[in-house]
Amino acid sequence: MKLKGKTAIITGGTSGIGKATALRFAEEGADLVITGRRVSLGKAVEAECSSKGVRCVFVEADHSKVEDCQRVVDIAIKEFGHIDILFNNAGIVTKGTAETTTDEVWQSTMDINITAVWRMSKLVLPHMKKQGKGVIVNNGSDWSVVASKDALPYIVSKGAVGLMTKAMAMDHARDGIRVNAVCPGDTFVDRWMEKGYFEDSDPVTLEQAIKEASEFIPMGRFGKPEEIANAVLFLASDESSYVTGHLLLVDGGNTAQ
Ligand SMILES: NC(=O)c1ccc[n+]([C@@H]2O[C@H](COP(=O)([O-])OP(=O)(O)OC[C@H]3O[C@@H](n4cnc5c(N)ncnc54)[C@H](OP(=O)(O)O)[C@@H]3O)[C@@H](O)[C@H]2O)c1
Repeated sequence: MKLKGKTAIITGGTSGIGKATALRFAEEGADLVITGRRVSLGKAVEAECSSKGVRCVFVEADHSKVEDCQRVVDIAIKEFGHIDILFNNAGIVTKGTAETTTDEVWQSTMDINITAVWRMSKLVLPHMKKQGKGVIVNNGSDWSVVASKDALPYIVSKGAVGLMTKAMAMDHARDGIRVNAVCPGDTFVDRWMEKGYFEDSDPVTLEQAIKEASEFIPMGRFGKPEEIANAVLFLASDESSYVTGHLLLVDGGNTAQ
């Protein structure tokens, strides 16, 4: 029970890495506020976390809206009285080069992947400062530290998350607040299927297609959301008490090559 007695906000807890982290945190005893726009999925995660013996509240929220961010923090304080952990996880993946990226895609990517991370941090920091302690974990990417092709807005946003993490860590180190980032490599989440990344639905060839697509990774496979959740747990718990300003790559060795 590494998080017993703590309250955590997880933005984007309706699926993927956020959902896996919510379940992992619940197993470790944390009370939770999870957010997202898809209400039925959020309610299902709320119920699954609650069944592990903690209190979990799902808040429907769009983190590109200022008022929704404020409401999430207000509800966390009203329900639990303190916020010990913020996992800034909500994010979108967008593609494009400098030439092909539209204004809309650029702005929506920055709004959720960068501005919401800053805004949620700004809103919880006064509470953490009052407590004299707190932990913020941002969800970066292996593309916080290296670039690739045809994903310019996403890469720019995740690069910004990397340096925002370090800058916030320096600003708040003496407040007892640690700020780190988990930087996942390619992690197989349900959304990949929804987006049609592997359109072949035949279970046998699908497995082969996924295996071939992951050949570029030194470990020869994509990550699992639960593996990222374990790294978030380390950064969120007292086990990382002397770690701040760190970008923890969890990428099967991808950025080592
Ligand atoms: N999977 C990977 O390979 C990978 C690699 C590196 C980094 N990441 C990062 O991991 C994070 C989670 O992504 P995922 O892979 O787990 O995919 P996912 O299943 O699509 O999760 C994204 C989460 O963000 C939420 N979200 C998106 N826009 C939002 C908004 N405007 N307001 C509130 N919530 C919003 C979604 O909730 P709703 O749709 O319900 O709003 C969902 O819960 C992202 O920051 C992503 O960049 C993922």
